[in-house]
Amino acid sequence: MSLVDLQREVARRRTFAIISHPDAGKTTLTEKLLLYGGAIHLAGAVRAKANQRHTTSDWMEIEKQRGISISSSVLQFEYQGVQVNLLDTPGHKDFSEDTYRTLTAADAAVMLIDAAKGVEPQTRKLFEVCRMRGIPIFTFMNKLDRPSRDPLDLLDELEKVLGIRTYPMTWPIGAGDRFKGVYDRHAREVLLYQTEGEANVKGRLAPKGVSGVDDPAFIQLLAGPEGDADEAKELHDQLRSELELIEMAGDAFDKNQVLAGQLSPVFFGSAMNNFGIERFLQRFIEMAPAPAPRTTVDGPIEPIDPRFSGFIFKIQANMDPSHRDRVAFMRVCSGKFTRNMSVNHVRMKKEVKLSRPLNFFAQERVIIEEAWPGDIVGLLDTTGDLRIGDTLCERAQFEYEGVPRFSPEHFVSVMILDPMKRKQLKKGLEQLAEEGVVQIYKQRGLGDKDPILGAVGALQFEVLQFRLKAEYGVDVRIERLPYIHARWVTGAGLDADYFERREDSRCLEDRDGQPVILFKSDWGLRWAQENYKALQFHKTAPMVQG
Ligand code: G4P
Repeated sequence: MSLVDLQREVARRRTFAIISHPDAGKTTLTEKLLLYGGAIHLAGAVRAKANQRHTTSDWMEIEKQRGISISSSVLQFEYQGVQVNLLDTPGHKDFSEDTYRTLTAADAAVMLIDAAKGVEPQTRKLFEVCRMRGIPIFTFMNKLDRPSRDPLDLLDELEKVLGIRTYPMTWPIGAGDRFKGVYDRHAREVLLYQTEGEANVKGRLAPKGVSGVDDPAFIQLLAGPEGDADEAKELHDQLRSELELIEMAGDAFDKNQVLAGQLSPVFFGSAMNNFGIERFLQRFIEMAPAPAPRTTVDGPIEPIDPRFSGFIFKIQANMDPSHRDRVAFMRVCSGKFTRNMSVNHVRMKKEVKLSRPLNFFAQERVIIEEAWPGDIVGLLDTTGDLRIGDTLCERAQFEYEGVPRFSPEHFVSVMILDPMKRKQLKKGLEQLAEEGVVQIYKQRGLGDKDPILGAVGALQFEVLQFRLKAEYGVDVRIERLPYIHARWVTGAGLDADYFERREDSRCLEDRDGQPVILFKSDWGLRWAQENYKALQFHKTAPMVQG
């Protein structure tokens, strides 16, 4: 491999994830993006594949029963010479920690918002993780073909609720029945919306002052051949005044702020009608960053460092029940990955040969021969040696900063139905926790007995119960506990007994012995934060390596 090849491959990669609330249109947008990339030939193929998947991987009965996708995959496509890696984040409302972890492998995020609804809870949570990482966030306001909220109001909400400043790249002209298209502020042209087919008919809005406020050609364009001229004039005037307002009162465009995740470029459109998507994709490809240096415990490593390196951000077991296998998803961070290469497994201090690297396109496995920084490789982990947060690297011993564990919001206690199976339960829980299905907390003084489990999404407990039975032969009863927050606590003078005694909190220990306090209410958490200033309450815990 030459350095020139490596530089070229790094420069032409964009790795991102879509963050959204269920039903905002993530599947629809993904389908449309893939169409532009020519990766699939039929609209609907993502969904069709999702259904088909049950025939190749029915390891999750619940997946079938609920008709949702629990496993996430990576979609790769090429657009105008750029290699796009779209990390698919599980989209059901009972999403899991995997969704968060996937974001640690992304270099940018697309925040998809239903323009009738605005910022919804799941979007907010995922946004916070992106914010924590400081990655650029692009916003796509979807479903403009339906009655939508005032666009200024939507931007205002992003700024107030999420605390991110915005720069509209396009601006909608009407909405719902009156949706005429979007105005591209950079190209200074309108993309007209038609309900059928490609809608990228272009027309220019005369610069202000050239043809006055009234712009007959533009109005004509909005009205169309048989359209309503009065309505078109009204929409034109509204567009003019809204554009003036955002020019005057809005933020200026600043690419550095975009890259720092402080300013979100905003686009409007309709994924279902394939409107505004291509323009979005073009601008996204131009602005989104190629893989950047990543932090290791010994300082940053450049993607063009010739030594291959990567880290594991997700583990999935038993995707294929006939093989009972375990796949570790690795994000390549530097150098070139090639099949059969031997690399250092830094945590275990041993060399491993990566002979079965897999690419997952909608669950179809293809062995890959090579991969570059920004790419995701599935590694068949036959020995069970790989864990979330592990670093694999060539001719070096550095470790990437661990993938954090995220604060759960759902908690249960587990009761075993057959006490003879305690050993299996312990093993099952340990392995499933290692995969990140749930987090295990110990009750103080009880050791491994009667652990309390936490998960980011409540569905994970059903997954756990199902897999304990299917894979470890253990029947358990699960009982919900009324806590909604968990915080890792650091700082001086924690009185664990006190928090354990209080009616609305518990003090437990995580698997590394770090104290974790559970709270039943927002109020209880706030109260503790205000009254115990010497303590810090953390939403994430660094993954302790080794
Ligand atoms: P998700 O993955 O984010 O959960 O959302 P998904 O794409 O499944 O879309 C959720 C619903 O919203 C779907 O309707 C989809 O057709 C619709 N939708 C997506 N984008 C747009 C858009 O731009 N405009 C309008 N009007 N609707 C949109 P559904 O009725 O739940 O499913 P389906 O029967 O259409 O498949």
